[in-house]
Parts: sequence; structure tokens; C-alpha cells
Amino acid sequence: MRVGVLTGGGDCPGLNAVIRAVARSSLDRGSEIVGVRDGWRGLVDGRFEPLGRREISGILPRGGTIIGTTRTNPYKVDGGVERVLENFRREGLDALVAIGGEDTLGVAARMYAEHSFAVVGVPKTIDNDLAATDYTFGFDTAVFIATEAIDRLHTTAESHNRVMVVEVMGRHTGWIAVMSGIAGGADVILIPEQPMTVEQACAALEKRHRGGKDFSIVVVSEGYELVYESGERRAVTQEAALDQFGHIRLGGVGGELAREIEERTGFETRVTVLGHVQRGGAPTPRDRVLATRYGLKAADLVHERKFGRMAALHGDSIVDVSLKEATAELKKVPKEWYQVASAFFG
Ligand code: F6P
Repeated sequence: MRVGVLTGGGDCPGLNAVIRAVARSSLDRGSEIVGVRDGWRGLVDGRFEPLGRREISGILPRGGTIIGTTRTNPYKVDGGVERVLENFRREGLDALVAIGGEDTLGVAARMYAEHSFAVVGVPKTIDNDLAATDYTFGFDTAVFIATEAIDRLHTTAESHNRVMVVEVMGRHTGWIAVMSGIAGGADVILIPEQPMTVEQACAALEKRHRGGKDFSIVVVSEGYELVYESGERRAVTQEAALDQFGHIRLGGVGGELAREIEERTGFETRVTVLGHVQRGGAPTPRDRVLATRYGLKAADLVHERKFGRMAALHGDSIVDVSLKEATAELKKVPKEWYQVASAFFG
């Protein structure tokens, strides 16, 4: 078989580990592997590169993606879908492995449903918001980086008797915030799914200070909207323009929250926005292993011609689920996880 592989959407640690596993497993079966440059953009424009043993050598621990990524949505490009189909045929591809999150895999699901496109998916995103899988690869690394940052902020917060607000990524779900907040011992965690009010957050910090602690750590997810007891809600975003998948650029809520906390409590407050640091660099061992298992499963699905499926983690097993199911809705942080986190608030 001649198998294409693409990485789409925001990059994340572990992409190269998946590419390596898909390629190794396919090459061992006598198949050829072709890298599609820059996500769906490469299929729209017809940009490919062969991936042999030499190209994939040494990439397991490397962050980023050796074949590039974009947030191109072929459904939003004039004639985009037709160009994808034409370039796929012209390149002589028999199958495509799409490594991506809800957007990239949403396109894959639609292409499969509408054109019987020979595609299988691998669930990627630091946000861990993809349904039908317990975990996406990239998430563990992001949580590790955020936890390390929280640990470092703890010691400086303690020295200066300050409140430290840490803004983490996660888009419209609070997975990174909840997990890194639990691991780092955060005193308040604010996420989109369980909107604690600004007044409640300040009350928790005041209670903690009354109890004898002079410093606090607040973790806030970028998608949290400032919610007030009056019922007012305020979303903080970077710019109004939407990307091709209809997403607004988030970021900045940490600064607004820090201002509110300082004004309302009188505690000196600082903010740290972790940003893309959470996506950069080497994957954790756990993400390397998960990405490798996903890549092997994707190669199996391709060679069994089980298209329209996605590799997924259920418990400790790698299984396959339908792309449609995986992209039907966002996987939100359930109440039980937030209860674990909130047991330590204040
Ligand atoms: O989806 C991954 C993610 O890192 C989100 O957590 C974040 O909101 C977004 O991508 C940032 O996107 P960009 O790289 O385009 O700034």
C-alpha cells in the first residue's frame, strides 16, 4: 500500500512518535509511506514527501512534527475537498492516517462519510477534549510542564506572600487546569465546565489566608469566563477573528483574574501565562508510549482497510472507535474530577 500521513491543528509532543510508529509498521509490511506537508493544506496543494527509514530515524523523542501542521480546513477553501480527492488520487495513495484533534479528525470523519475517503485517525491534542478515548497523546506532557511551573511558582509565592495566578491552555475544557492543579496542589482552580464565581474564588483565598497561609496558587483555564454572583459573565479573548474551524483565539483571562483578586482581597497578585511552552519540547515517556501504540494501531487499521475508524485508549487497551463518534462532541471534565480538585480549595 502507499500510505499518506498528516498532522493537523496545533502541534503537540508525540506527533513524531506516531509518525515513526505508523511508518515503521507500514514499511515492515512492505508499504510505502508519504508525508503530507502541513496538515490538510498539503492535500489541498499537493505537497508530499517520501518518509523512509532515514527520515524517521531519531524522531521518537522530538517535539513538534517533521511534516509540519496548519489549521487548514479543506471545507473552507474554494474547491478544497475536490483538490484533496484529486491530489490523493494523483499521488497514488491508498490510505491516509490523519493525526489531529476535533478539527482535523472532524474533516476526516466528514470526508469518510461523504466520499468513503480511505482515512483512519489518531487522537492528538494537549487539551484532552476528544470524545471516545480516555486520553489523547500530548496531554500528559502539557500537564507535566504545567505542574512543574506550579511547583516553581509555589516557592516564589511563598517567599513573597503573594497570590500566583497560572493561566493554562485547554481551549473550552479544563483538563490541563484540573490535572496540573491537583498535581501541583492549587488552592483554587477555575475551568469552563464548573464555573466558580470570582467572588467564590476570592472567598476561598481569604479563608486560606485567615487559616494562616500567606500565599496561594490559582490555576485558571484559558477558556474560563469570569463569572460574577450578579450573573454577569465576561469572556476574555485575544482577537475577534475566527480561524477556519470557527475558533476564537483565547488567552488573557489570567491577567483579568489577577487584577480582580488583588482589588477584591488586597493580596499582592501576579500572573503567569504558560502559553505554547505547554506544547513545545520532548514528550513525556507516557506520551511516547501512548503515541507509539496509537501509531501501530493506525497502521493495523490501514492494512485491515478499516477506514473511518480512530485509534483510542479505553482503560489500558488500544481499541478502535468510529471517527464520527470521536468528533460528535467535546469531552468535558466531569464533576467527579472537579470534586477531587476542589477538596483542597481554600
Ligand atoms: O488546541 C491546542 C491549543 O494549544 C489550545 O489549548 C489553544 O487554545 C490553542 O491550541 C492555541 O492555538 P494557536 O497555536 O493557534 O495559538
